[in-house]
Amino acid sequence: MRQLEIAKGVYDVGVTDWNIRDFHGYSTYSGTTYNAFLVTDEKIALIDTVKKEFADQLIENISRIVDPKKIDYVISNHTEMDHSGSLPRIMHRVGEDKPLFCSKMGEKNLARHFSQKWNYRPVGTGDELNLGKRTLTFLETRMLHWPDSMFTYLKEDKILFSSDAFGQHYAGPERFDDMMGDAIMPHAKKYFANIMMLYSPLILKLVETVTSLGLQFNMICPDHGILWRKDPGKIINAYVKWSRQEDNEKKAVIVYDTMWHSTEIMAEAIMSGLTEEGIYVRPMKLRECHRSDIITEVLDAKAVIVGSPTLNNGLYPTVSDFLTYMKGLKPQNKIGAAFGSYGWSGESVKLVQEELTAMKFQTVDSGLKIQYMPDKAGIEKCEAFGRKIGQAVKG
Ligand code: FEO
Repeated sequence: MRQLEIAKGVYDVGVTDWNIRDFHGYSTYSGTTYNAFLVTDEKIALIDTVKKEFADQLIENISRIVDPKKIDYVISNHTEMDHSGSLPRIMHRVGEDKPLFCSKMGEKNLARHFSQKWNYRPVGTGDELNLGKRTLTFLETRMLHWPDSMFTYLKEDKILFSSDAFGQHYAGPERFDDMMGDAIMPHAKKYFANIMMLYSPLILKLVETVTSLGLQFNMICPDHGILWRKDPGKIINAYVKWSRQEDNEKKAVIVYDTMWHSTEIMAEAIMSGLTEEGIYVRPMKLRECHRSDIITEVLDAKAVIVGSPTLNNGLYPTVSDFLTYMKGLKPQNKIGAAFGSYGWSGESVKLVQEELTAMKFQTVDSGLKIQYMPDKAGIEKCEAFGRKIGQAVKG
């Protein structure tokens, strides 16, 4: 049970999903939370709900503070079902005719997921909802994370309820940034890389908008993970850095899979060449590393070097999976390189190269392929290829 007063009259009534290990294809080794918030004033507002399976816990958490029937307004910042799945149960308890605030796209999307009959009150950026002594202001944030997404800002307390943005898939006893220090940042980075990276240009625009509106934050409360109260600026600055993807570190990720170790031997020799050039290298074998962990390393790497054996005239399946995933997340400003071993036809390197080019990576040569096992000369070629990529990374 969780009902934590995070500011006077403002409660976190969300739930902790300790055991989830796969969040639509993202590895969540530390579980996650679905945060929801109750703002009590002359009027009472509930901001967001939780995944359907946790509806009872949400209702119990609310009931320990107030009878759910006394909630005057329900606000849905985002339609995705980890935040809206409990809406039918909540609306039933709160009252089906109570106003349900959401963005214009939120109204359309909620109606497609649930009931057409709710008392929708679509809002746009700058619209306000008076609760008595306090005011909620809405800010549309299309595509962060869905077209319906919006933020809700509690003006007098300077608390931003930011939906998916600034979240982390982390479940722990800690509820605030000051309880975790920098240990939360790898979780925030992984979340950004896997959920937000493709919206980097929108994030930069949003930060500009927020700055021009002069909004200040005492607290940023995302719908996943811990709440930022000690230093909300830290996560905003991290988002700006990650979104720019300009100052990528002198770092390379070698992503590969292998059938009979030939491509793996190539990966190790390429790594030697990169290391000789002073590049920090993370080799990641696809059958051992989850795609969401690899993408986290890709976020701040300058070079992404992808190796695939040729299997049945094509790519190795794990490599196809990874390339599809990476392409969707649209990493920017990367150097790319392809390599792999083959037996007779040898299409894989060309196929990887085409994918990297389609992602607008600056590719090094046309890739490197070696037939069967790399011999001494082959290993030297790989080392030289690594050195060449390293020189490109250093600019
Ligand atoms: Fe946490 Fe886009 O849902």
